[in-house]
This record gives sequence, C-alpha cells and structure tokens, in this order.
Amino acid sequence: MNDAVKEEIRERLPVEDVVGQYIDLKRAGRNLKGHSPWGTDRTPSFMVSPEKGIWHDFSSNKGGDIFSFVMEMEGLTFPEALEKLAKQAGVELKRYRGDDKAVMAKKQRLYEALELATKYFQTCLVRNQAVCKYVFYQRHLNRKTVENFRIGYAPMAGKALVNFLNKRGFSAQELADAGLVNRFGGDLFKGRMMIPLMDQGGRVIGFTGRIVDDKAKDTPKYLNTPETMLYNKGRHIFGLSQAREAIRRSEYVVVVEGNMDVISSHQAGVREAVATAGTAMTENHLKSFSRMANDIRLAYDGDEAGVRAAERAIAMASKFGLYLSVIDDYHGCKDADELIQKDPKLWQKAVQDYRPALEWVLEKYEDRFDLKSEKGFQEYASEAKRLIDGIDASDTVLRERYERMVSKKLGISLEAFRAKRVKKDTRRLKQGVGVVKNTTDGPSRAEKHLKALVLFGKVSAEYAELVRADLDKDELGLIFEEQYAGWSAAEQAHEAEILAKKLKSERVESKRKELEAAIRLAEENHDEELENRLLAEMNELIRGAG
Ligand code: UTP
Ligand code: MN
Repeated sequence: MNDAVKEEIRERLPVEDVVGQYIDLKRAGRNLKGHSPWGTDRTPSFMVSPEKGIWHDFSSNKGGDIFSFVMEMEGLTFPEALEKLAKQAGVELKRYRGDDKAVMAKKQRLYEALELATKYFQTCLVRNQAVCKYVFYQRHLNRKTVENFRIGYAPMAGKALVNFLNKRGFSAQELADAGLVNRFGGDLFKGRMMIPLMDQGGRVIGFTGRIVDDKAKDTPKYLNTPETMLYNKGRHIFGLSQAREAIRRSEYVVVVEGNMDVISSHQAGVREAVATAGTAMTENHLKSFSRMANDIRLAYDGDEAGVRAAERAIAMASKFGLYLSVIDDYHGCKDADELIQKDPKLWQKAVQDYRPALEWVLEKYEDRFDLKSEKGFQEYASEAKRLIDGIDASDTVLRERYERMVSKKLGISLEAFRAKRVKKDTRRLKQGVGVVKNTTDGPSRAEKHLKALVLFGKVSAEYAELVRADLDKDELGLIFEEQYAGWSAAEQAHEAEILAKKLKSERVESKRKELEAAIRLAEENHDEELENRLLAEMNELIRGAG
C-alpha cells in the first residue's frame, strides 16, 4: 500500500514545510538551507530541495525524503512516521489498502486530462478577441499574470472540450471523473473565463469559470469543478502554488475572499495572497498556513458574514498558535480587486495596516450593541464572553489580555466578567467549523425539471417563485429538449403540478431535518427556551405539511 499513500502525503506536505517545522530555513538559489539538527555546523549545511522533495545534511551525511526526516528527527519507525505525516496531511491510511496502483494510474490520467484542458482553454483565449478584451482591458490583467495563473477561455459550443479530449484518447468516464462534463456528457464550462485550480506543486486539479458578460442571467457568476479524486474543496487553497515562496520569505499570509482578488493582488506585487474561495475557512486551511507562517491576515468584508467568518477563525487559529489579524481599510471599495484597480499602492499599504482579529470583532460588537442600554450592555458582554471563551484554554495570556480589555470597557471587575456564564451559541455551533458558503445540497431533480418547464415550456408563471434563480440555463434547456419538447400545454401543466408538489415536500423534509438537529443541540445545551421555540416551530411545520 505504501507507494500510493506516500505519494499522496508527499503531494500535500512539501518537504520544506515538514523540515521547516524543526529547522529555520533560508532560501539559497533553488534550494533552502539551514543548520544541521544533528551536527554542530557553523555555516548552514542542511539543504532542502523543494523541487525534488528531498533533503540532505552535509554535516551528518544523512538525507532522504519527508518520511526519513521525521524518522531521524523523532526517532520513529517508518510506520510511525507514516502515521504521523498522514495525520498532518489529512490522509486516511485505511483508504489505501489494496487498490492503490489502480488509483494512482487513474489520478495520473485525470492530471493529464486537466493539463490538456488548461492548454486548450489558453489557446481559446488567445483566439477570442472579445474575451481578451474582457480579461486584459476590463479586468486589467497583464500578460504575465495571465500566463502565471494560466487563465483561459472555455468556448460557448456545447462539446468543444469534450470532443477535443475524446480525440486525444480520454473516455467519457475519465472526463466525468475529472469534473469537466455536465450530467449530459457535454462541457460543464461554456462561455467562461477559465481559472485553473492548482495543487501546491502547481498541477491543475480543477477549474473555476467566470461569466464574461456581467449581464448574463440565470447562470451563476462562478462555476466550480465539483469535488473529484483530485479536488477537495475544504482543503484547497487558491493561489498557494504561486504564493508559497513569498509567504515563506515574508512570513505572513494574506487571505482574501475571491480568486480574482488573489490574482490582482499578485499582479500588484502582494504575492502572499491566497483565498479559500467558495468556502469558509476550515481547520485544514489553517493547518496548511501554520506550516508556512504564523502571521495570518484576513482581508474580509466588515459585513455580518465577514465578522462571523472572523469569529470562527479566531477560535481555530488559537489552537494552532497563529496570530490572526484583519485588514479592513478598503477606502470604500468592495474588495481587494476593486481597491487595486483604484491604486495598487493602497492595497500594498493596507496589507501592512493590520489589526488583531479579536480586537476588530470586539469593535464590531460595539457598533452593533448600544452599551448605554441595559440590553445592549448585556448582549455585548455575552458576545464578548463567548468570543473569548473560544480562545484555546492553553493561551492564558491572550485570554487575560482580552478579558481585561472587555471588563475595562464595561467598567466591571475582571472577576465579574470571568464569572459570567453564557450559553453556547447554538447558531454558531450548528454552523460548526468551516461551513461551506456556496454549496447547499444541489438542486433536486424536481426543481430542475420544474424550472426547465418554467423557462422553456408553457406553464403558469407562478411556479417561477418556487424555483431558485441560479440554475444553469444550458442544462435546463437540454432537459426541456430531451424530455418535454413534444408535450402539449396540458401535459406540461399536469407535470408541473406534480413537480411543484414534490419540491414543496422536499423543502419541508429538509426543514424538518434542520429543526431536528437544532432541537437536539438546544437539548444538549439545556437551553429550554430555545428548545421550546423550536418544538413549536416543528409542530407548525408538521401541521402545515399534513
Ligand atoms: P464575489 O461575488 O465577491 O466575487 O464572490 P468576486 O471574487 O468579487 O468576483 P468578481 O470580481 O466579480 O469576478 C466571492 C467568491 O465566492 C465564490 C467565488 O469563489 C468568488 O471568488 N463564488 C461567487 C462562487 O463560487 N459562485 C458564485 O456564483 C459567486
Ligand atoms: Mn471582485
């Protein structure tokens, strides 16, 4: 089993990150060097080659890969080192019994397909003047940036890429596994600016595609590769392969919200920028950051969602010993990209103008609550207590610092603040860590079919209110063509009625599940009031559906 699993772990844990946890490394040309942990060298004699994934210690003459390094360093056997690094990498050892050779070969094929797709999209971009205009003039990306991020264009035609890859020997199944096709076997990405998602080593593992016409309706602005054998949303960090050098050098990470923010930031010379695009930050993301730098600067929006994201990150970050701060001076712009378009210098400055995340969140609470009123005072105290309670218990210094800050602000004693009891926030608990922002359960069959009838058929307009707006219109067109094109108006109306009923009951069912979970949580927290409210809601729901 070892080859496949070793390969997987090596992919996820660059040698300089593993070694860097024990030894200070400095860049020296293509390699990195540091002092030998075993010898007593006066000049650094321990070398690491990121490209080759190996290390060599000139003073003790030892060398090898990440596994042998950890074995030497910690005195472990190989299985022990494997287990330790697998854990760090988030690789499940169980999964690798048996079929690993086949899995490796399969993955190799997917990498090849995605690499070819990238090249194909790049060619299509060069050939399309209108899209070049969008990329170069509207988004103001320069040639170097477009090359570095390998930006391309997916043509409008329904099967352009599929045909291209079929001709080069890739099967329909392989293209599906690579996440390149829709469920009808056509191109998933059509008429979109294509941005490859890469792993740490720069290999393409998926794409995100943006519409090039902001007026386009009924289609999401960004479409992303679904989760595949290669692409894992909760783990992926956009821009990391381009940013890692800079992060290592400057010893900080700038986390922006969108992929375009990352790209613009790099173009503006801030190459420490990455994004956890499409998802909220997870522990996996933070763990990856912690291997490169411990100074994490969030460039988040000051809106509700931004504050909530920061709240969650604070609790996670303290576990990994990270310094978490916030960049929030956007000069009235809505995101980093917009600020950079205004003036790259403003962004360069903003990145150096960061403040502790905890302080920033507390300040937001101050804006939210009126401390002069009894209610506002209490609510502020509760939120602040909750936030501080989320700090890892071992970080007594940080805790006390903020406990003092808040109790002073409230004009109460430190002891009183410490003694204050707050219920756990069920809302926040329910969201848990690293909640995915953009993926709810995908639209159901009923929803898609109903929407297809609404858009292309002859059914009552009132159904339009039942279905969501962001479904892929091309896909719906195909559904209609394949299934309903020959149907009479009466037949369509009848079908729509059935679909609407089904959709409504699906919604009730998912609401019921949600309530059930919330009730269980309220119960565990002995929050009777909340529990009663939720139970009443549940009764209502059941009565309404019956
Ligand atoms: P934004 O709507 O803020 O987009 O979404 P943006 O990054 O500013 O993009 P531009 O400048 O209009 O091109 C932030 C992030 O949320 C995800 C994307 O990863 C995006 O970068 N997103 C947004 C989606 O996955 N799907 C969407 O339909 C919209
Ligand atoms: Mn933007």
